[in-house]
Amino acid sequence: MCGIVGYIGERDAQGILTSGLRRLEYRGYDSAGIVTIDSSGQTTLLREKGKVSELDKLVLSHENHDKVGIGHTRWATHGEPSEINAHPHQAGDIYLVHNGIIENYKELKAELKDHNFVSETDSEVLAAMIDSLYDKDTSLVDAVTQALKLVIGTYGIAVISSREPEIVVVARSGSPLIIGVNDNETLIASDACALIGHTDKAIYLNDNEVAICKKDGVDLRDMSAQPISSKVETIEIDMQAIQKQGYDHFLLKEISEQPQTLRATLSGRINERAKDVRLDGLNLSTKELKSIEHITIIGCGTAYYAGLLSSYYLEQLVDGLTIDVAAASELRYRSFHLPKNTIALVVSQSGETADTLACLREIKRRDVKTIGIINTVGSTIAREVDGGIYVHAGPEISVASTKAFTSQVAAITMLGIQIAQAKGVGIKETSKYIDELAKLPDEIDNVIKNYKEKIAEIAKKYAKYEHSLYFGRDTLFPVALEGALKLKEISYTQAEGYAAGELKHGPIALVDDNFFEVALLLDNWLFDKGLSALSEVNARGGHVFVITNSTKDIDAEEILRIDTKLDILAPIVINVVQQLFAYYVAVARGNDVDQPRNLAKSVTVE
Ligand code: G6P
Repeated sequence: MCGIVGYIGERDAQGILTSGLRRLEYRGYDSAGIVTIDSSGQTTLLREKGKVSELDKLVLSHENHDKVGIGHTRWATHGEPSEINAHPHQAGDIYLVHNGIIENYKELKAELKDHNFVSETDSEVLAAMIDSLYDKDTSLVDAVTQALKLVIGTYGIAVISSREPEIVVVARSGSPLIIGVNDNETLIASDACALIGHTDKAIYLNDNEVAICKKDGVDLRDMSAQPISSKVETIEIDMQAIQKQGYDHFLLKEISEQPQTLRATLSGRINERAKDVRLDGLNLSTKELKSIEHITIIGCGTAYYAGLLSSYYLEQLVDGLTIDVAAASELRYRSFHLPKNTIALVVSQSGETADTLACLREIKRRDVKTIGIINTVGSTIAREVDGGIYVHAGPEISVASTKAFTSQVAAITMLGIQIAQAKGVGIKETSKYIDELAKLPDEIDNVIKNYKEKIAEIAKKYAKYEHSLYFGRDTLFPVALEGALKLKEISYTQAEGYAAGELKHGPIALVDDNFFEVALLLDNWLFDKGLSALSEVNARGGHVFVITNSTKDIDAEEILRIDTKLDILAPIVINVVQQLFAYYVAVARGNDVDQPRNLAKSVTVE
């Protein structure tokens, strides 16, 4: 949430900052701004409401050759999206960009009587606090660390001062910051994507660390200003992965590349011939795997639903295993109990979601083993879990999550197989899952290639509706929840997901000509039950679109019958249909599908 960039080197900063902001725009796009500084301390502050493209226009008319600067793209927390509330914020000689929330900003603000506040933001308070401590005998880094000691909340910040134009000071607590190192230049970003093409060498800042970034290096300190050593790591993202590659939208690219990204998730981990799964990096011995009695799964948004779907597979795979799945935002304030021999699965695409991270820390405090199901390599959650499975889906740029879901479910299913193997579950049971996982990439490919046009056609028909109801039973219930989430995120229409068996307990009252329904049906032992729910909706004048793998008689307004060899994992393929459906509805409604209103990709604040 919010993107931060910074640069100090020999190249013109403005272009590097704005192109970095464009890469980070998916983190927030309410307003954007940059400030650059020349060697004499002269600054140019440019801020604009709206997207980075608006800021670009302003930069064009204020071009300079400054070699130092910081920038920000905002997702509003305190104060409406406006130029005044846009970062960088200025206080005296200080310019600051901030990601996070300063919880005690009102108390701090009350003490800062000398500063004339112009914005409604908590971030300006931090800038003013640094400025108030920045007297002529104090260095910028000391003023920053002293101010941060007074702060309650979360932050990733980058600060420059017109008095010390040769440095950029950065610090973090709870919001990610990465420092890219290169010959004669140092780059700063809240996300590795912004560094690609400049350098693949980076220092990942830890909480409570502050760094003085100079053209020729980085001086890392703790909050008491004591020097600490830094570890330079390699970023493994290639340029192609963060480009649209001919697709109209990142969302369509990311839906379409699922066969490949899923292969990357499975690669080297399942052995179809030996009917075996081997996951490195779990840091759990066979004895520990065998002793697992309970699994708790946490995540937010799509990651939560991926956990929910996976829980059905885990309990089918391992008899006697108990599982609970919780939205991290809820769990973190509950007085929850974790039975003995529990492991926690922490599911997150970005590895930065604030609520998920808070749960992880609480669970670790209780000495429960934590396993990350993470996409973003080097992210905070990935670094803090005891072990994990990187899903290797590659950068997900579109705000609505798609390929991460598919890979997360596959990764947790593989984990379930490995636990089952350790517990002595027969090969007959586990091999069904292994066979289906191995087939899954081709099956998704088949759906995308052969049904995309038909889905687009159906989507056009339903794009006029403002309300919809998704329903499914068993494994199709979490899929219905995810389908509805995808549609509401990008179409801005009301979409509800429901368990088919629950329709009669309320939602069926919604059925009228203003609604359409998406009924998910699998040709399995629950088919007839699903059919009953469908008939009940039909009987009340429903406008039902059925997505099914069945060839049996079904009565509905629209039916998409997909031909798939899968049985257990067919819900994942059905979800891909839903992703495409949501995409085409949103396109038909003329929405910005990659950067839907009010949302941000990585929710690093509560
Ligand atoms: C935001 C995104 C969703 C995502 C959720 C969890 O709400 O818009 O697409 O599912 O955060 O993010 P995570 O990175 O933890 O998977």
